[in-house]
Amino acid sequence: MLLLPKVKELRSYLASQRHGRKIGLVPTMGALHKGHISLIKRAIAENDLVVVSIFVNPLQFTPTEDLQAYPRQLEQDCQQCQKLGVQVVFAPTQEEIGIAGDTESQATTTTVVPPATMTSVLCGKFRPGHFTGVATIVTKLFNIVQPDRAYFGEKDAQQLAIIRRLVRDLNLPVEIVGCPIVRESSGLALSSRNQYLTEVEKQQATIIHRSLQQVEREFKAGMKDANTLINLARKQLATVPEVKVQYIELVDPENLQPIEKIEKTGLMAIAAYVSSTRLIDNILLRQRQPIIAIDGPAGAGKSTVTRKVARKLGLLYLDTGAMYRAVTWLVMESGIAIDEEQAIASLVEKIKIELIPPNAANLPPCVYINGQEVTQVIRTPEVTANVSKIAAIGAVREQLVKQQQRYGEEGGIIAEGRDIGTKVFPDAELKIFLTASVRERARRRWQDLQNQGREDITIEQLARDIQQRDERDSNRPIAPLKKAKDAIEIVTDGLSIEEVTSQIIALYDRI
Ligand code: PAJ
Repeated sequence: MLLLPKVKELRSYLASQRHGRKIGLVPTMGALHKGHISLIKRAIAENDLVVVSIFVNPLQFTPTEDLQAYPRQLEQDCQQCQKLGVQVVFAPTQEEIGIAGDTESQATTTTVVPPATMTSVLCGKFRPGHFTGVATIVTKLFNIVQPDRAYFGEKDAQQLAIIRRLVRDLNLPVEIVGCPIVRESSGLALSSRNQYLTEVEKQQATIIHRSLQQVEREFKAGMKDANTLINLARKQLATVPEVKVQYIELVDPENLQPIEKIEKTGLMAIAAYVSSTRLIDNILLRQRQPIIAIDGPAGAGKSTVTRKVARKLGLLYLDTGAMYRAVTWLVMESGIAIDEEQAIASLVEKIKIELIPPNAANLPPCVYINGQEVTQVIRTPEVTANVSKIAAIGAVREQLVKQQQRYGEEGGIIAEGRDIGTKVFPDAELKIFLTASVRERARRRWQDLQNQGREDITIEQLARDIQQRDERDSNRPIAPLKKAKDAIEIVTDGLSIEEVTSQIIALYDRI
């Protein structure tokens, strides 16, 4: 791993490495904890080269804030980054990056000013100039590193919304990836500033998350009125008087404007002091139908069971296989060769795939690509022969995962695959890991082959093939098979399809 303090060195290193490789940037102010590490791990998983920047940015600290006291531990941070597999830590000095002082020096330097509507709410009210300081340093980092993707935590929801807006308004060529909040087991959101808290204060601070959870429960039970939800949080927080609330607001998560009633989504954000330490936390309240994610090895009966559960529960079967088939069909239709990855990548950038529930219950969903119905034509042997090659292209998968996640925003879907619960819908309400012993899967396959009149293959041979496939599927770089930590495992040995289906429906009813 390289530790580069100079802009020039970083630029020339990246120029020598870029050549079509994806670069991920994780901007931080150091004192790395598990929250930062989750961003770094995600960046490593999704890019060819990862730069972590470590810079305590004076421009975002108001004169009364903790700029001097802010924890600095570069050596320890570098060791962490090295262990994780980061290629570069960019840790410039103030002089090197050209930032002189705190928010007051914004008057004498070129700054990037986010819209006042987004900075006059939540933390912005109490930290004048803070988000201009953030927007300015982040723009500088984007210009220096020129990453393909940059990773930010949902913990700082206002910062994330402002950066998304900045990228859109200034047409910056970078994809912003938001990452979930990482918490201690007590529920306290991790923060570099937690270092300032005593054990007792940490315990007191857990009321912040607990009150957000209480609000979420009330919201899920049907309460949509902002004032009622805010008062509920306020009442909860008041039970620990050492925690002094600075604000509680309920806003639209994109434009940050206060809302009176949650239509689809609302962001409840809290800032509070524990002693002299200022802590923030938030929760996204989203009105959506549940999602069921079913993962598991090939041959465990996932697709049959998924179809049945979808039908019984009236959920949309998000047929990811059909989506890959539709792209394969489009590639072939467009006359692009299957190995022309670059051309395929630009073709998929603009596609729109729609899955519409079928008229009859026993039919698969109708598939549309760019407005054209392709339900039947994607089932030809030609498409079948090419689909796995297309699905192995990173850009195709990335685009399709995005489209699948768009369906997830509404919910009311069930999907199956290898990493649906771990990667595509990590927040699915119900995750099932459907599996069966190798021997059982071999036996089922053997039975199928017997029924087709193929009697030349033994169960032992099939078992060996399945074992090898399991290993390949678990270790493949794209979409490896993984059981989510919170998935419920169902071993289908000795169970009928009906029995498995009703087990899943019983679990769904308990959500
Ligand atoms: P810093 O506070 O060091 O945070 C760096 C990144 O880590 C931010 O995107 C933040 O949202 C994320 N993060 C912090 N705690 C987290 C948690 N518990 N779970 C998930 N993500 C978490 O935010 C900044 O630095 C600065 O403002 C910066 C963007 C670097 C600009 O100076």
